[in-house]
Amino acid sequence: MINNQILGIDVGASGIKGAIVNVKTGELITERFRVPTPSPAKPKAVAKSVLTIVNHFKWKGLIGVGFPAVIQNGIAKTAANIDNKWIGTNVEKLLSKTTGCPVSVRNDADVAGIAELQFGAGKNKKGTIILITIGSGLGSAVFTDGVLLANSELGHLKFKGMIAEHYAADSIRKKMNLNWNEWGKRFNEYLQHLEFIFSPDLILLGGGSSKKFLKYKNLLKLD
Ligand code: BGC
Repeated sequence: MINNQILGIDVGASGIKGAIVNVKTGELITERFRVPTPSPAKPKAVAKSVLTIVNHFKWKGLIGVGFPAVIQNGIAKTAANIDNKWIGTNVEKLLSKTTGCPVSVRNDADVAGIAELQFGAGKNKKGTIILITIGSGLGSAVFTDGVLLANSELGHLKFKGMIAEHYAADSIRKKMNLNWNEWGKRFNEYLQHLEFIFSPDLILLGGGSSKKFLKYKNLLKLD
């Protein structure tokens, strides 16, 4: 690793974003560079977009990728918000073959959680911490005393007779044209459900819609 730097890439349902990151300080060294996620988001097409980002930064070192699926040993095991073709694909191998760089891939919410515990709102915090990312899906990262329970997929809990993210993800707000009040109530119910199951000491929110927190903050009624 050169100067503690890696190229961090987030593969999302609508955009693939990259920036060079200092992993010792957690700081972005460069501006974020974003390319739209190809549609359909099949492995080859997404790998090409990742290569566009690598070329943009003229990057030659280690690449860390957050990917929206269960990832075990570099292999995608699910595909809720990305093309089904990914299931069984070795994401690490595909991306390192395409880019010529070593690649490490983990679930997107898991890596967001690791970053929060290392550098952000979860720094030096013990106990049970749950990070929920709100976007096209609901991603989750669960920690006990700093140890990650990988691939927790709490967005796929059964809730109200359906998959939770089909009830409370941001994509549902958009699709059903819910106002922030209506959506916020749903999200609050979901968080209360998580609270009931896990009794977390801290809940962190991330993902695109966490930027809109003020629009639904008052609707969240947790202990
Ligand atoms: C996927 C998760 C992912 C989340 C956020 C869900 O649909 O199943 O793996 O973390 O979306 O992208």
